[in-house]
Order: sequence, then C-alpha cells, then structure tokens
Amino acid sequence: MALDPHAFISTLKKRISFTDADKALLKSEAEWGLKLAPEMAEHFYEYLGRDPEMSAIVDDGGNGRIHRLRETFIHWFHEMFTGMDDWGSAYAERRWKIGLVHVRLGIGPQHVVPAMATVVHQVGKHLIKDGKSEDLKDTLGRICMIDLAFIEQAYVEVSSSAVLQETGWTEGLFRRLITTGAKSM
Ligand code: HEM
Repeated sequence: MALDPHAFISTLKKRISFTDADKALLKSEAEWGLKLAPEMAEHFYEYLGRDPEMSAIVDDGGNGRIHRLRETFIHWFHEMFTGMDDWGSAYAERRWKIGLVHVRLGIGPQHVVPAMATVVHQVGKHLIKDGKSEDLKDTLGRICMIDLAFIEQAYVEVSSSAVLQETGWTEGLFRRLITTGAKSM
C-alpha cells in the first residue's frame, strides 16, 4: 500500500481540476501569499490553542515546537503559491512528509479537516480585504484541498500498512474485513 506521492498528486490535480491557469494565478500572487503567511500562522496556532485536545498536542512545554510550527507553517503557506517545482514531485514529496509527521503525532482527520477549513476561511477574509478575485479564492481552495488529501491519505496508508505488517494479512483480506466491518456498523 505504499503511496507514490508523484502519482497521487497527478490524480488529485485531475480530480480537483487544478489547471495551468490555477498555477499561473498562484504564482502571480506569491508575494501577497508570503506577506500574509506570518499572520495566517499566528491565527492558525491561536485557533489550535483554543481547542484543549489540539492545544495539548502542540504544547511541548516550551521546547521550541510552537516556534518551529510558525516557521514551517509560513513555508507551507508560501509553497502553495510558488508550487516549488511546478506542483510536481518535490511538492508532492513535501506534502507526503507533512502528512506522515501528523500521523506520527496522532493527529487525525477530526483535527486536520477543521484546521484546513479555518485556513480557507481566514484566507478568504484577507482576499476580500485586499480586493483579490473570486478566481484566486477558488484556486486557493483547490490547492488547500490537495494538501489536505495528502495528510488524510497518509493517515489511511500508515494505518493500513501497520495492520498488514503486524498481522501478515494480504491487502485483499484486509479490504474484505473493512467492507464487512462497515456493513456491521
Ligand atoms: C491545515 C492543516 C495543517 C497544516 C497545513 C499543518 C502544517 C504543518 C507543517 C508544514 C509541519 C512541519 C512538518 C515537518 O516537520 O516536515 C507541521 C508539523 C506539526 N503540526 Fe501541523 N499542520 C496542520 C494541522 C495540524 C493540527 C490540526 C495540529 C494539532 C492538532 C498540528 C500540529 C503539528 C505538530 C505538533 C507538528 C510537529 C511540530 C514539531 O515538533 O516540529 N498540525 N504542521
């Protein structure tokens, strides 16, 4: 069940209709994205801090995690605009790694989905304030969903691989068990 990040991003781009026009628009607004990034990071970690469970995950007792998080968030946010390597393999590898980091920390869909919704909502407010286009809003929404899919898929892939490794089950058997389990719920 090992995921190929490059193949995965290609599928997502097609599925979500992330086009060359989206890329061009994001690149043209990369400076705006970079300027906005620190404020977005502030807002994001304030938001996590207001949730007791998420706040407990983020809090490492003053060992520099929050500082690192701000820095990495700023990079992450800006990379959505630059696309790193035209939203290619490097971009996909980076997103896959971000997904794995979250899985290792026990951060699941229930945390990540609302968090990404907060990003989309907050960036939307800035778009209006700065007189940016609806197109940019749509494009940013699409790239945020691609990034979200990576974190979510990492969760599924890591959980599945762990079960397969521990049990020695085949992928086919595992899938059958999931289907049966879902039917009985
Ligand atoms: C929109 C969703 C999110 C984005 C875009 C995001 C972004 C990032 C990035 C870029 C990193 C650095 C990964 C690396 O080291 O390579 C990171 C790490 C981390 N994130 Fe998130 N994150 C999200 C959601 C969350 C949520 C919901 C939580 C808490 C419940 C969280 C807590 C953490 C923690 C604790 C780390 C590790 C920090 C460290 O010790 O270096 N993240 N995140």
